Amino acid sequence: MKLQTVLLLTTAIIGYALAAKFPASFSRCKQEDGNCLLEAITATFRNFHQGVPEIGLVPLDPLRIDTMDIVQGDGPINIVLNFKKVDLTGFQHAQIKKVSGFTSKPTKMDLNLLVPVASLVGGYRINGKVLILPIQGEGASNMTMVNCDISLKWTGKLVEKNGKQFYQVDKFKVHFDTSRFYMDFSNLFNGDKALGDNMNVFLNDNWQDILKELKPAISAAFTKIFQAVVSNVFNKVPYNELYVA
Ligand SMILES: *[C@@H]1O[C@H](CO)[C@@H](O)[C@H](O)[C@H]1NC(C)=O
Repeated sequence: MKLQTVLLLTTAIIGYALAAKFPASFSRCKQEDGNCLLEAITATFRNFHQGVPEIGLVPLDPLRIDTMDIVQGDGPINIVLNFKKVDLTGFQHAQIKKVSGFTSKPTKMDLNLLVPVASLVGGYRINGKVLILPIQGEGASNMTMVNCDISLKWTGKLVEKNGKQFYQVDKFKVHFDTSRFYMDFSNLFNGDKALGDNMNVFLNDNWQDILKELKPAISAAFTKIFQAVVSNVFNKVPYNELYVA
């Protein structure tokens, strides 16, 4: 099976001119203090989901994605799915389940989070074939995942910039699982309501097969997004300043 994913993330990367300065209520931890990190990162999603430009944290909920393309070649699902101006929501309720690698000599880092309901809502255009049926349309879409278990893993190393040590992300990987995947595409088949309604029912009846086929492409899209989010903080804040002494 050939699988190709193309994603352009043009989310504005902000805050270069500002000094790294944490908000007063931002909780930081000692290096390797696992329990503190679980709580502090969960609190960051909860309380700072609108972003903190001073530390390079972009808005996480909603997380605006200007364009995202899922291109799935041969196999049971053969589609080009373009998203435009979509918002990923739900991350303010993320629960951090596991964190590792936040040490004094960081190399490999892991973050495992559970998002109760994650939705990707916005414009779409789709063309292709799903299982045996042709699909075509353009309009508003909503893809929602319940109990979204997301694992972020990355490698990197400390590098010196302007006399300070920064963590530079190298390889980044995202895996996810979900207990339910809902799809809703409005205006399929040029607005033919009967055809469109039937297709949405068909997609949701077959969500497990569809998710299985699309998972690598969705994971690759998430990888680009979360790599940008995580790297932006590490590029902005010297590594030691992420912690309290
Ligand atoms: C998206 O779909 C989910 C699941 O059907 C629903 O709960 C949610 O309200 C929808 N969101 C929007 C913005 O329509």
